[in-house]
Amino acid sequence: MKRRLELLLPLLAACAHTAPPATTPNPPAVEISTPRRAWWKQVVVYQVYPRSFQDSDNNGVGDLRGIVSRLNYIKSLGVDVVWLNPVYQSPNDDNGYDISDYRAIMPEMGTMADFDSLLQGLHRRGIKLVMDLVVNHTSDEHPWFQQSRSSRTNPYRDFYHWWPAERGTPAKRWSFFDEEGSAWRYDSTTQAFYLHYFSRKQPDLKWENPRVRREVYDIMRFWFDKGVDGFRMDVIPFISKDTTFPPLPAAYHGDYVAYYAKGPKVHEYLQEMNREVLSKYDIMTVGEGGGVAVEDALKFVAEDRHELQTFFQFELVDHWGRRPGNWLYPDSSNRSLPALKGIFTKWDSVFATSGWGTVFLGNHDQSRMVSRYGNDTPRYRNASAKMLQTLLLTMRATPYIYDGDELGMANIRFTDIRDYRDLMTINYYNRLKREGGDLREFLAGQAELSRDNGRTPMQWSADSNAGFTAGVPWIRINPDYRMVNVAAEERDTGSVLHYFRRMIQLRKSEPLLVYGKYQLLDRENPEVFAYTRSLQGRTLMVALSFSAKGGMTALPAGYTSGKILINNLASSPLQGTRLELGAYQAVVLELTRD
Ligand code: GLC
Repeated sequence: MKRRLELLLPLLAACAHTAPPATTPNPPAVEISTPRRAWWKQVVVYQVYPRSFQDSDNNGVGDLRGIVSRLNYIKSLGVDVVWLNPVYQSPNDDNGYDISDYRAIMPEMGTMADFDSLLQGLHRRGIKLVMDLVVNHTSDEHPWFQQSRSSRTNPYRDFYHWWPAERGTPAKRWSFFDEEGSAWRYDSTTQAFYLHYFSRKQPDLKWENPRVRREVYDIMRFWFDKGVDGFRMDVIPFISKDTTFPPLPAAYHGDYVAYYAKGPKVHEYLQEMNREVLSKYDIMTVGEGGGVAVEDALKFVAEDRHELQTFFQFELVDHWGRRPGNWLYPDSSNRSLPALKGIFTKWDSVFATSGWGTVFLGNHDQSRMVSRYGNDTPRYRNASAKMLQTLLLTMRATPYIYDGDELGMANIRFTDIRDYRDLMTINYYNRLKREGGDLREFLAGQAELSRDNGRTPMQWSADSNAGFTAGVPWIRINPDYRMVNVAAEERDTGSVLHYFRRMIQLRKSEPLLVYGKYQLLDRENPEVFAYTRSLQGRTLMVALSFSAKGGMTALPAGYTSGKILINNLASSPLQGTRLELGAYQAVVLELTRD
């Protein structure tokens, strides 16, 4: 019998808030429902995973100087913002998401001077920098925690959540990463349990303590005063806890993420953060919004609430192709295109008149988008990667593109546990092994879903180690780098990379693709995702085939023809008012009525 691991995948939440409205002073007369304009709605964000981007000192780990050496490449993509995963001082239990000094750079990544030169290099090129803000928890090696755990009367005791052992065992809280599944860890020094939603080395900060909040705001000011342009806020909906720690209501067993995202004071804290810090700077914010239900979305991002500007919602990436209730395992029956369309459409409608959305299909916590939502076999990889880029860049939401997805990088699919570096895969494996579970099945699942699929080094060239490092890479490089790499794709004008640049230029030249009204077409079509975007009397249609069989759809009623603005295949799908799409074909058409 299979054992069910009771832990869900880290869903990695995000939220953002209302920035000082960078709206145009006199917005043109447009449809009533057209959202207010703001620079952070118009940008395309490129996520750089620093460990895996470019190594400059040949220790096998990507670093800040490595990124600096690639700034012209980043500029050439046409992106406006770089989101950088954590580079702060960290023992790296969770690749930098366990911070031991928020004002220092980890030596593996370089120095503060390297950081400054990265920031200047980006700004010189007109690109903004968004940093990761990881303040639901610190590292257990942070001086605050070292103090806190040293005695019950230490002034930092109340920086973390402690449950004294004489009160018995605290009510169950699940951990995303813990080998035993519990978010409470007994600490013998003071005979008490501390709370850690993530690994044992990531104790949760006690936001209920105003001193904690003041420290966090100071950290934020430090980076804003340096000139950074925003924060991506790690698991920000989890910061508030019911500190009486009652038993988890039964409804949340199996979906404790939703409980974690509903802390009693989360909005109070975000409003305070906004008042104290965010409102004072012209910056952008995106929260990692795992667990946030669609009905709660506007509480985080409606302009009049003064919290965040945007957040990442996880409804699609947490469920598509995953086993319900246990996201560590794949389930290919759970991939319905009508369901995917429903999710995009529902979230678009939430933000139609207030707030603003984001769209992403890959990041450092996900497997590669072309492997998961497209088709990475040699025949279809190119077309399906371009098709997914077309989706990302034609939604009414701020698009986030994960590094390597501009090339169509694919899952590495490790088969040996020794190749993995992610503590989540390793800890679950060890737990399953101890419990006598099915390790082969687990590894087969991780080959598709593991976070390490998205963390293999950037493929720059066909040279050794893909041009990433002259040392030994910290994680194996996908052997397909000999074919799929920047240098090869630069030479081939039909490459995924060239298409990505063209697609970005299209989005940039068409404010309609940012602000235009979104309307789903052909809802039940199992092979084609089609929609229109319209603004000020103009309508574009986007048609995307999600199938190796292609698919059929039609122009919406009232339109007789369309001019193709971009097409990922050589052949036109237009047959009168019908579209006959090839395998993974993507087109954007400007619709006309004759
Ligand atoms: C977020 C990060 C993820 C990390 C976790 C704990 O979900 O994206 O990488 O493991 O938070 O900080």
